[in-house]
Amino acid sequence: MKKFSQRHLLGIKDLTRDDIELVFETADNFKAIINRPIKKVPSLRDITVANIFFENSTRTRISFELAQKRLSADIVNFSASSSSVSKGETLIDTVKNILSMKVDMVVMRHPAPGACIFLAKHIDAQIINAGDGTHEHPTQALLDAYSIRERLGSVKGKKVVIVGDILHSRVALSNIYCLQKLGAEVMVCGPTTLIPKYIESLGVKVEHDLMKALQWCDVANMLRIQLERQDIKYFPSLREYSMLYGVNKYRLDSLDKEIVIMHPGPVNRGVEITSEVADSKNAIILDQVENGVATRMAVMYLLAGQQA
Ligand code: CP
Repeated sequence: MKKFSQRHLLGIKDLTRDDIELVFETADNFKAIINRPIKKVPSLRDITVANIFFENSTRTRISFELAQKRLSADIVNFSASSSSVSKGETLIDTVKNILSMKVDMVVMRHPAPGACIFLAKHIDAQIINAGDGTHEHPTQALLDAYSIRERLGSVKGKKVVIVGDILHSRVALSNIYCLQKLGAEVMVCGPTTLIPKYIESLGVKVEHDLMKALQWCDVANMLRIQLERQDIKYFPSLREYSMLYGVNKYRLDSLDKEIVIMHPGPVNRGVEITSEVADSKNAIILDQVENGVATRMAVMYLLAGQQA
């Protein structure tokens, strides 16, 4: 029987291609289950999971919670804004206090890159990274690649361009690792100021002309401009960004082929993509959200299996 190689899910960088394929095969089974009238399985019945979010989230948080409920886990939810963190408690103390209530697994989102790696070195529970600053967002990359596999039959050999704010994006880095491990070709596209200099050393192509990038790719993953992480101005205005790097129907219709449009959310309609594109048949944005539940069920199921 195949086994997941990691005790935690801290980043895609740590995973093997076999790990990722095992997540997908397991997610296929869970996707079938959650589309049945009886959606719940007892797989995590004796497991307690703490969802610890130090940053805002809609999709990831709801998706993990739903995945845990479908697996019959016990859940505690913690949000920094309503906790004693605001009174000066440290990350380690906060988590140790939660763990002393006998928690087996921690799903954590934190603004500091590497926060989950730090935590995994200091506590016994299994850690799942739900996004750590500008570092990694591994379950987003897994659900993204799973959604490409579902739409196009496989990831191997596909050309994927990631467009936009690569510099501040944890989604971009996790996607690059995941897609390359699965045999896809990856390009990044955006203004020079939002493409980090090290990115070419990861073996990705760089393109600053959006139309050339769209003509090259099978899939365009459109990233949100993360104004909350931008301490300086990286481009003159959102209007100008949208004119140069936004995907609209005119641009899609100018291509000599159909491409798949993805977005991790939250979407800034009218900035990185127009509403017409977001709601078009090219877009698989809601499939990504749906697949998030099955892939997160698969990750937690595989990690819990290592406790046995
Ligand atoms: N894709 C994503 O991480 O969305 P949230 O910030 O809403 O969780």
